[in-house]
Amino acid sequence: MAKSRYGVDIDSLVYPVFVRQGIDLQQPIPSMPGVYRFSPDSLAKEVDRLLKIGIKKILLFGITEEKDECGTAAYGDKSIVSTTIGLLKHLFPELIIMTDVCLCAYTSHGHCGILNRSSDDVLINKDKTLHALSEMALSHAAAGADYVAPSAMAEGQVSSIRKALDGNGFKETRIMGYSAKYASQFYGPFRDIADSAPRFGDRCQYQLGWTERERAFSKIEDDIREGADIVMVKPALAYLDIIREARDKFRHRLAAYNVSGEYAMIKAGAQSGYWDEEEAVFEVMTAIKRAGADIVITYHAPDIARWLNRGGVPQ
Ligand code: PBG
Repeated sequence: MAKSRYGVDIDSLVYPVFVRQGIDLQQPIPSMPGVYRFSPDSLAKEVDRLLKIGIKKILLFGITEEKDECGTAAYGDKSIVSTTIGLLKHLFPELIIMTDVCLCAYTSHGHCGILNRSSDDVLINKDKTLHALSEMALSHAAAGADYVAPSAMAEGQVSSIRKALDGNGFKETRIMGYSAKYASQFYGPFRDIADSAPRFGDRCQYQLGWTERERAFSKIEDDIREGADIVMVKPALAYLDIIREARDKFRHRLAAYNVSGEYAMIKAGAQSGYWDEEEAVFEVMTAIKRAGADIVITYHAPDIARWLNRGGVPQ
């Protein structure tokens, strides 16, 4: 059985999944065929299927209708993500759970942090945001998350979370930093899934601009210094040069996030008959691996696993 093709193997893949309150829910996302919003019980069935095809790592996102200015529903042991981690770890102890740590799906304004109220501009309140993100990470760790993955692009988020984890007996919980995260169009479908589009302004204040190179590496350097176990470049396809340079500059576990819009493009093109989906997916995955990523976070993971399990092309 061919478990790898052109260097793309199942073990290096992480599959993003979305959970919301409810029972027996599996809501399709029109722009993302094959991706669903699950209730915890349905997600457990999905995870069972994932494990059977060899996918052992998920990146868990919570979705909620209970939004407020501070994203309160994101933290505490009753949050949708914490309760889901508990359920999944109970049923599948071998599952590696990574959790997204960001407030944008929980805030009424849709920004990734807590804002300074007095201002019309998008001004993130650094202290409040770091505190909220640390609380969120702690609650995920307490529920059993293996990795927490801060994606708010708040300065100092990794060190603040590391400190909180270490100080509360979670030295073993690891951190994957969304280190170099660009303000990208290609998050469009994700924001539909998570209902997390900013209600005003944009994310340019805290995400990287398209033209920036050096700052991507200083962000990665910061995350490594602050204690990130894995660093990330996101999105993947429009930033392959950044992945390659990061690979050459740093000896650190490097992830690339093949984001929602990149997935949607491949799916839409395949449905229109513009290309063969399997070939297109392996071409893209090969490029991301060739650029230097150790880990690829991708919505294609279950398809890739099925294709690899089917065998065919020799290793
Ligand atoms: C949260 C977050 C986003 C994504 C991952 N975590 C959205 C954003 O920054 O707007 C995007 C993932 C994807 O597009 O697949 N901040």
